[in-house]
Amino acid sequence: MRTAVLISGRGTNLEAILKAEEEKSLGKTKIVLVLSNNPEAKGLEIAQRSHKQTAIVDKKNLDYCEQESEILEILEHNKIEFIVLAGFMQILSSNFISKYKNKIINIHPSLLPSFPGLKAQKQALDFGVKISGCTVHIVTETVDEGPIILQKCVEVYSEDSEKELADRILREEHVLLPKAISLFSLGKIQVYSNKARIVE
Ligand code: GAR
Repeated sequence: MRTAVLISGRGTNLEAILKAEEEKSLGKTKIVLVLSNNPEAKGLEIAQRSHKQTAIVDKKNLDYCEQESEILEILEHNKIEFIVLAGFMQILSSNFISKYKNKIINIHPSLLPSFPGLKAQKQALDFGVKISGCTVHIVTETVDEGPIILQKCVEVYSEDSEKELADRILREEHVLLPKAISLFSLGKIQVYSNKARIVE
């Protein structure tokens, strides 16, 4: 399964995915491309260290439609079959999503449908929840609302800083996202209307 990982920043989830691939625990996945919408993304160095092909389509230099078409062109040129959003901070258009229907997954640092959007960990702290976590879901046109593949919860303590909570969640993200990719590549995820099921 020819896979692209899309990133915008430091790339710790990307690193976890590449480690899983190296350890042969990513099913039939082949990471063939790491694409960033930010030329400064630290994750690009991680990709290069693993000898992965990288591409940069800077969202600052182009208008939104041009930038997305350029991303699509690169994905098509590389015969990408599956896309992983690993800290990719950009909303994709319905045109883009329809071209890869049920073939794009995203990791989000909360237990969706709670706390979608930006600063999910701060939202959880501000609300005073006692449990939060992370979610891997299929990307649909409604932001952070697609069928949920996997979730993992972590405890939230009253004395937590935003960073402490984000780090606790991140450790679980690094396990959850490679697991979801592996399941997908092995054909173990089926989508029925708004639900994703894991089948054996
Ligand atoms: C991760 O916490 C990921 O869940 C979050 O961005 C971070 C990226 O970290 N994504 C979102 O908030 C998407 N809505 P990383 O670059 O170290 O993988």
